[in-house]
Amino acid sequence: VARHSGSSRAAVGVLEVDGEVRIFVEDEGRGFDPKAVGLGHQGLVGMRERVELVGGRLLLESAPGEGTRVQVRLPLEVAA
Ligand SMILES: Nc1ncnc2c1ncn2[C@@H]1O[C@H](COP(=O)(O)OP(=O)(O)OP(=O)(O)O)[C@@H](O)[C@H]1O
Ligand SMILES: [Mg+2]
Repeated sequence: VARHSGSSRAAVGVLEVDGEVRIFVEDEGRGFDPKAVGLGHQGLVGMRERVELVGGRLLLESAPGEGTRVQVRLPLEVAA
């Protein structure tokens, strides 16, 4: 958020829903097209890889001008 969004504010949440731990980080900054990220950008790819290695999923919602929301969902039994 600090590096890319252009916003000085982010909201962060951690909650338990339906046997999962859900973590989100969202901002109301400039947003981007997730499909248009080229090679050589390892940050989000690395986050997704680490989440999937422990059985979770990473969901990325963003569009130019729309802010960004990154959500992680982890099954509770492996998160402990
Ligand atoms: N919160 C955000 N707001 C706006 N754009 C974002 C945000 N997060 C990521 N991006 C966009 O997605 C691209 C990929 O982000 P990612 O963290 O994967 O790579 P990077 O930061 O460019 O490089 P690295 O993390 O490897 O140093 C960024 O270059 C930026 O264009
Ligand atoms: Mg990065």
